Amino acid sequence: MENRNTFVAPSLLASNFLELGKEVEMLNRSEADWLHLDVMDGRFVPNISFGLPVISHIRKATKKTCDVHLMIEEPEKYAEDFKKAGADILTVHYEACTHLHRNIQQIKGLGMKAGVALNPHTPVHLLENIINDIDLILIMSVNPGFGGQHFIPKSLEKIRQTREMITHYKAHALIEVDGGISVENAGAILDAGANVLVAGSSVFASKDPEATISALRKA
Ligand code: DX5
Ligand code: ZN
Repeated sequence: MENRNTFVAPSLLASNFLELGKEVEMLNRSEADWLHLDVMDGRFVPNISFGLPVISHIRKATKKTCDVHLMIEEPEKYAEDFKKAGADILTVHYEACTHLHRNIQQIKGLGMKAGVALNPHTPVHLLENIINDIDLILIMSVNPGFGGQHFIPKSLEKIRQTREMITHYKAHALIEVDGGISVENAGAILDAGANVLVAGSSVFASKDPEATISALRKA
């Protein structure tokens, strides 16, 4: 729908790491708005992905927004390093931050946009007192740690609740949704109030990733 403020952020987690340069070139050619970069530490989530050196190289290969999703404990220890690596948006998990307000101020102070991600079990209203301070809310629609999982249907209600909260508090945060998103369910996710669609396997496992990205943008 054309009047929706919609962005598509393919997740490189599902890309071919042996051909990472070519994958980024494909995304540069495509209608992708952002590159979604999933960092996992094997502690906050039961998986390890990639980190700073890989992101630095991706940064040099693209002008598109680098949207970094930190699935790590103690993200405050690394915020400056991710800024140096080229992150434009840095998203931390609510569940990983005892001092979330301080973490958000740190990220913004470093000159990045600040996002907060919520695991599937974490209620949206917990962000009420910080909603006006953040640039993005990431609703996890799968349990973080792995690509290729099924979209959790309850996420649609959480997206609607987030949209209501943003309207109520006159906040500017974008709503990003991550996990199990495909061309088939993208329309319902956007209708619920989302702005940013993260898609990993549905893009990279498709026959024509560029066409899939275009289809997601038109959803
Ligand atoms: C999961 C990651 C996602 C993942 C999405 O922990 O945060 O970004 O790459 O992958 P799909 O689209 O395959 O569910
Ligand atoms: Zn992610």
